[in-house]
Amino acid sequence: MAQHRHEMYRPIHKAIRHMMYTTAHDLSVADFQGKRSADGALASLESTISLLVLRAGHEEEYVHIALEERPPRFIESFEKDHGNDELVYAQLRKLSSEVGNASGERKSELGNEIYDIYNQFAGIYVEHLYRRSMNCSRHCGTTLPTRNLALSTEPCRPA
Ligand SMILES: [Fe+2]
Repeated sequence: MAQHRHEMYRPIHKAIRHMMYTTAHDLSVADFQGKRSADGALASLESTISLLVLRAGHEEEYVHIALEERPPRFIESFEKDHGNDELVYAQLRKLSSEVGNASGERKSELGNEIYDIYNQFAGIYVEHLYRRSMNCSRHCGTTLPTRNLALSTEPCRPA
């Protein structure tokens, strides 16, 4: 009897892209000279960064370990991406923290700078997601037997 399988990357990546695009929208319409508007956009940004940090930690702790021995060694490129992501998060968080202490036009300048950096990063991250799903589907499958869903230490097994 055929085993029911769960598609593991598509729904997760879809949710991440949705969150990232929502934050891009929130940053694009925010008036950084208005406290409520700026706070809302920056909260959206922090939620997305926090999610991506958690996601990278999960990948490194569970997925990468499971794939380390598999050729070709494409894990290094994902870990390098994560390192670069951390630099961008630090830059975005630093600029976000400056908004509260800035005044007038400087608030708007910071908002524009945050928006530009975040949008550039979002493009890079979407490519990261695409590369991950393509590499993993090619080398280890993208589905799990439904019975394995609770086993987070076994997220990437051959289909
Ligand atoms: Fe990743």
